[in-house]
Amino acid sequence: MSKAAELRRLVNSYQLSQAIHVAAVLGIADLLADGPRSSDELAKATATSPRALYRLLRALAAFGLFREDDDRRFSLTELGDALRSDAPESVAGWAAFVGRRNIREAWSALEESIRTGENAFKLEHGVSVWEYRAQNPEESEIFDRAMASSSHLVIRSLIDAYDFGRFGTIVDVGGGNGTLLRALLDEYPQLNGVLFDQPHVVEGVDLGERGRIVGGSFFESVPEGGDAYLLKWIIHDWEDEESVAILRNVRRNGGALLLVERVVEPPNEGPETKLGDLNMLVGPGGQERTLEEFRAVFEAAGYELVGDTPTASGMHVIEGKPA
Ligand SMILES: C[S@@+](CC[C@H](N)C(=O)[O-])C[C@H]1O[C@@H](n2cnc3c(N)ncnc32)[C@H](O)[C@@H]1O
Repeated sequence: MSKAAELRRLVNSYQLSQAIHVAAVLGIADLLADGPRSSDELAKATATSPRALYRLLRALAAFGLFREDDDRRFSLTELGDALRSDAPESVAGWAAFVGRRNIREAWSALEESIRTGENAFKLEHGVSVWEYRAQNPEESEIFDRAMASSSHLVIRSLIDAYDFGRFGTIVDVGGGNGTLLRALLDEYPQLNGVLFDQPHVVEGVDLGERGRIVGGSFFESVPEGGDAYLLKWIIHDWEDEESVAILRNVRRNGGALLLVERVVEPPNEGPETKLGDLNMLVGPGGQERTLEEFRAVFEAAGYELVGDTPTASGMHVIEGKPA
């Protein structure tokens, strides 16, 4: 492929992303879990246009998500298998979220964001992602499932690289629907956990006898009693001023601070982190950071950065202790 053709494919990749999103929303991979089916059968099962669905499936087959046989029967490939909702490292929840209209519209404001430095979601919708989701319960649930889906991709690598079992009680601050904390409680039978997030996010979550659920805002306070305070994908949602405010509230309780984040790599490396950083500019209005930038935020909040543990998934466990 020529460089120009390669670039053109990159330019068009949002179209592929949207096609995968629709396949995820329709649950195509789940429908193919037990074996091949014709596109007409799939159209019936998903109440879609047979001709249009066939065009979607053959396009995705050309990109290797499905395999198309001569008689318009489709089966799952290894790549497409990760779109099953119950795949061990399912991407279904993330794919279902990324193509939502409110997210797409925010990305359409990227140019304005780059010109002004302002958060695209707020420019487009007039409210922050958190306000928007608080007002739109369906979007909130879709987002929480996307986070759970993304967590499944990294949890094993975190547990393999870092011993969370040395703490008695871990408070998961902004822990969403509890996917990570549930995995930690399963892994370490002596561990107790507190799941803390906005009230509408933690409502109805049950983590069993060793898991306490608390709703609130980390801009006001976070639950006491943690030997460690875990914040996974929280600080990257915020600019420095808000990040320091959150960490100061955590700091009031003492305990170890454990951030799970990507760390921005040197120039020309780390495309996921750097695209993720743009995603922060567009979505919540935060940023990915270098280790030195994390260190500065830690110091401003009263922590000393004492550890940085890289993991196989690309996530780091960045550890602080009260200074
Ligand atoms: C990017 S998600 C990460 C969720 C989870 N830690 C994970 O890794 O899957 C950010 C989380 O911060 C929560 N959050 C946002 N504002 C909050 C606030 N003011 N107080 C508490 N939690 C908040 C959101 O509800 C969301 O669950």
